[in-house]
Amino acid sequence: MSFDRKIKIAPSILAADFANFGQECEAVEAQGADWVHVDVMDGHFVPNITFGPATCAAIRPHIKGVMDVHLMIAPVDPSIEAFAKAGADVITAHVEAGPHIHRTLQAIRASGAKAGLALNPGTPASAAEPLLDLVDLVCVMTVNPGFGGQKFIDMGDKIKALRAMIGDRPVHIEIDGGVDVTTAPLVAGAGADVLVAGSAVFKGGSVSDPEVYGRNIRAIRAAAEGVYV
Ligand code: DX5
Ligand code: ZN
Repeated sequence: MSFDRKIKIAPSILAADFANFGQECEAVEAQGADWVHVDVMDGHFVPNITFGPATCAAIRPHIKGVMDVHLMIAPVDPSIEAFAKAGADVITAHVEAGPHIHRTLQAIRASGAKAGLALNPGTPASAAEPLLDLVDLVCVMTVNPGFGGQKFIDMGDKIKALRAMIGDRPVHIEIDGGVDVTTAPLVAGAGADVLVAGSAVFKGGSVSDPEVYGRNIRAIRAAAEGVYV
């Protein structure tokens, strides 16, 4: 996985057909997705349950590019190896998920995956500062995690602060929650390069009508690229 700061659209399969993940992943990639974002929820760290490493392993052969696994679980450490073995390219853990995020990030890198650090809307940018040399990605949540389809919370100042803090480090800024054609310019303009979008990509389409995914992805990308700094 090489580093660049071009705009990347990462459809979240939380908004896909859960009975058809393999084909859904293939469809969004064929329609222009850069990464595939996989939301793991445990009913404890967040009030919703999705799936675990076995499902990630089953999805993996259907993704040619980057499998971006967002862990909304606590504790994180006992499961890192399983998600790495399932083929995650990026494993993102929440700073709020436990007292030892530094150790968690070390363990993710030791597993061979790229390490992501997610910040909930209530967590300041400064929480990431001591960790920036340990991460490959900072994920700024623009909703409170747990569900797709929620209203976007403006985190523009936090994104700008992180962009400045990151400097020349090869660290992506990812935005997760409520990204669509209206909000994409706000986050790209503040310096984000990876845009996760669930509802805004999958709405109106299906594996039998995948061109809709392509139109949705292109619209979000165009909205973001128009203002990217
Ligand atoms: C929220 C998840 C998101 C979610 C985004 O807890 O982490 O990845 O799927 O969905 P939308 O784009 O519908 O807000
Ligand atoms: Zn997510």
